[in-house]
This record gives sequence, C-alpha cells and structure tokens, in this order.
Amino acid sequence: MQGGDDSAPGLGVYEAMGTLRAVRRLRPDPVPSRVLERVLLAASWAPTGGNVQPWRVIVVREAETKRVLGSLYAARWAAYAEQHRAQLEGAPEGLRARTERMLAAGDHLAGAFGETPVVLVFCFNPKIMAITDAKLDRISVVGGASIYPAVENALLACRAEGLGCVLTTLLCECEPEVRELLSIPQPWATAAAVPIGYPVLGGHGPISRRPVEKLAFADRWGRAWSS
Ligand SMILES: Cc1cc2nc3c(=O)[nH]c(=O)nc-3n(C[C@H](O)[C@H](O)[C@H](O)COP(=O)(O)O)c2cc1C
Repeated sequence: MQGGDDSAPGLGVYEAMGTLRAVRRLRPDPVPSRVLERVLLAASWAPTGGNVQPWRVIVVREAETKRVLGSLYAARWAAYAEQHRAQLEGAPEGLRARTERMLAAGDHLAGAFGETPVVLVFCFNPKIMAITDAKLDRISVVGGASIYPAVENALLACRAEGLGCVLTTLLCECEPEVRELLSIPQPWATAAAVPIGYPVLGGHGPISRRPVEKLAFADRWGRAWSS
C-alpha cells in the first residue's frame, strides 16, 4: 500500500506493531499531503498527562532546511557509528553481523537524510508537562510519556501508509543549532526527528525482540509470567 488513494489504509494494529522495524533507506519521492495529514492526525490522538498535549511537530519539507538538518545528523551519526563499531570488536559473530547491517543502513540514512522527503521534528514544552518522577533521585522519564506516544502513533500510521520511517534522537545532541534553524522558541525543546518516505527496499517487516516471558512478570518482579 503506497497511500495513493484518499482513504486510510486498513492494516491491522497488531500487524502494524509487529512489523514496525526501522526503515532507513528511503526514496526521495514526495509524500502526498493527504497521507501526511493522516499521519499527523494519528499523532494527535496520542494520550498525554492531563490531556495537555505538550508536544508539537514541525513538518520539514524545505530542501535547504533538510540539507542543514542532514549535515547536522550526519556528523552525529558518524561519531555514534564509530563508537558502536569499536564496541563490536570481539562480539559474537551473529550480533556483529546484525549490528553491521544496522550500521550500514544508518550510514545510508546519514548520507541521505537531507534528501528524505519529510522530516518530522517533535518538540515538547517541559513547563507544561506533568512530570511525576521529577523529584526522585534518578533520571526523570515520565515527561517522555507525554511525547513519545505521539511519535509512536505517527510511526504506526506511516507503517499503515506503506511509508518507511525511523525514530531518531541524535539531533537532540545539537538542539541549539536545530532550535535556531527551525525557530523553536524557549522553553520548547526537541525530542525526536523522524525521517519518512517510501522505502527503497522492502520497507517494514519482521522485527527481532525479546520474548514476552523475558519482559513480563506475574505480580512480583522476577516471578515468571505465564498466560
Ligand atoms: C529512543 C530511540 C532513539 C533512536 N535513535 C536513533 C537514531 O538516532 N538513529 C537511528 O538510525 N535509529 C535510531 N533509533 C532506532 C533504533 O536503533 C531501532 O529502533 C532499533 O535498533 C531496533 O531496530 P528495529 O526496529 O529495526 O528492529 C532510535 C530508537 C529509539 C526508540
């Protein structure tokens, strides 16, 4: 399904979630506005603390703006990939091969980020978020729960539309430059950049994740879950 008609595609939610892998090789072909509109609508449906919706998304399509974002992204990716490749030395062959494949796709995205038809830059306002773990003696994560469900909804909608996409956060490392480029006012900040476009290869497909029994417990931490 390429999102070519006017109606929303009817991919089942479990199939969409179970095949939503990172797609980093994207064609430069434009994404129709009505398709983008559905992706943004899906994002808008996400729950947020107190229904405040402390997030906004900048839909970047201007060539020059994407070019600058792309060069910022490529610099961050190069540092990340170098470090990741160094860590792979001595790793088991299977893990090494899988990670190398991911890094090769990441290299491709980094080189082509600026030619991606659309980049969704998700922003948030920490001043209007319900952050219930802010005073704990650990990194606070609850604020993210009022942002990333919207990002995930957008990813799932892309999946349903046959659009490739990947959640990226490397551009957050250079938030000052992104802020200036996209005129993001204080105290709004950046949470993710999602390049989207029709896939070069097969696009979404099977994913590899830990089995449920390794992730879920029954009633107490560590107590085996069994259905
Ligand atoms: C919080 C977060 C940050 C991520 N940042 C990046 C990124 O900056 N660049 C990138 O290429 N992928 C990024 N990813 C994608 C992950 O690498 C990807 O989801 C993971 O390797 C699993 O791959 P799969 O979904 O294809 O199975 C990010 C994913 C998450 C959830």
